Amino acid sequence: MSFQPRNILFFGATGNIGKHILAGVLSARDEFDRVAIFTSPATAQSKAAFLDDLKTSKRVEVIVGDIKDEEAVKKAYEGIDTVISALGRLAIASQIPLIRLAAASPSVRWFLPSEYGTDIAYGPASAHEKPHQQKLAVRAAIEEVAREGELSYTYVVTGPYPEMYMRGFSCGREGGGWDVLGRKATLLGEKGEDRVSFTVMKDVGTLVLATLRNPSASLNRALKVNSFTTTPAAIHAEFEKQTGGTPWTDVVYTPLDKLRALEQQAWEAGQPQATVLTLRRIWTEGGTLYETRDNGVVGEPKLTRLEEVVAQIVREEREKGEKARV
Ligand SMILES: NC(=O)c1ccc[n+]([C@@H]2O[C@H](COP(=O)([O-])OP(=O)(O)OC[C@H]3O[C@@H](n4cnc5c(N)ncnc54)[C@H](OP(=O)(O)O)[C@@H]3O)[C@@H](O)[C@H]2O)c1
Repeated sequence: MSFQPRNILFFGATGNIGKHILAGVLSARDEFDRVAIFTSPATAQSKAAFLDDLKTSKRVEVIVGDIKDEEAVKKAYEGIDTVISALGRLAIASQIPLIRLAAASPSVRWFLPSEYGTDIAYGPASAHEKPHQQKLAVRAAIEEVAREGELSYTYVVTGPYPEMYMRGFSCGREGGGWDVLGRKATLLGEKGEDRVSFTVMKDVGTLVLATLRNPSASLNRALKVNSFTTTPAAIHAEFEKQTGGTPWTDVVYTPLDKLRALEQQAWEAGQPQATVLTLRRIWTEGGTLYETRDNGVVGEPKLTRLEEVVAQIVREEREKGEKARV
């Protein structure tokens, strides 16, 4: 397929990662004729100011509708050549009808489904991981239409976002993280020395734009990209360096066997953090490490370094602390 995408439609552009991907594309707005987003009526109300700004200052078409409304989706696809989905975890399976409609559309040629995370085909065990099941079903559906030549796809596989991995203890104290103001940390792994590859959220946008700029190298494959590879111990050293240079005293470790036990308990109890605990276990086991990474395939764009993202977190946590005091 020798084409350059010119007319882009987003699903999920208002979400956690979708807004970074949209910002990445809008940083090169003039390279595209149309940039449109399809958003729900609920978001059209709750994020009205954000959507107005997109329309007025960024030349974004905002289409309000329900992703389950076939006619609305068909209409939104008119004249679109590339669809980027960043739909959230609860809407992953909804992409299957969106993919079939894209394959049937006369104009849509390329579909990037909502991935932007862990490699769901890393090894034989990946097929059995609970959080991967819906994304695997989406891949099966898109690969079927791609075999028939009706649509091409790209999976942008980024590994975890350091901003989410590092901040606080979102899965409880034993689930890992850094508390900048409390100078407390939980490092995953026996000694925190297991390597993990991360992609900073803003860099996900940069990498999706780089993918759009390199269609022939990106089609019908996974792109395994990342900002940097590091260890919990190296992250911790950076936090200490950027918070006065003295050691934090409250530092504990969660070895893999303990992490697996926490994960199992969370699934058995139906707790929402079960998914994240499974993903953290996969990352700690090495599920983000590759012999080579694919940043070069999409032109090796400039990305964020570990020290920069740690600086951002330290700054934001201090600002939050200041606000809480006044
Ligand atoms: N690598 C990582 O560390 C990491 C972390 C988090 C997420 N991810 C991945 O990134 C992707 C996007 O996740 P996210 O956290 O950014 O998503 P999100 O913020 O939860 O949702 C993204 C958007 O999807 C739409 N949406 C959400 N739930 C929906 C539903 N039930 N029905 C219809 N539309 C719905 C909404 O858009 P509108 O209302 O505008 O239509 C929402 O703004 C997923 O594939 C996820 O697995 C990766």
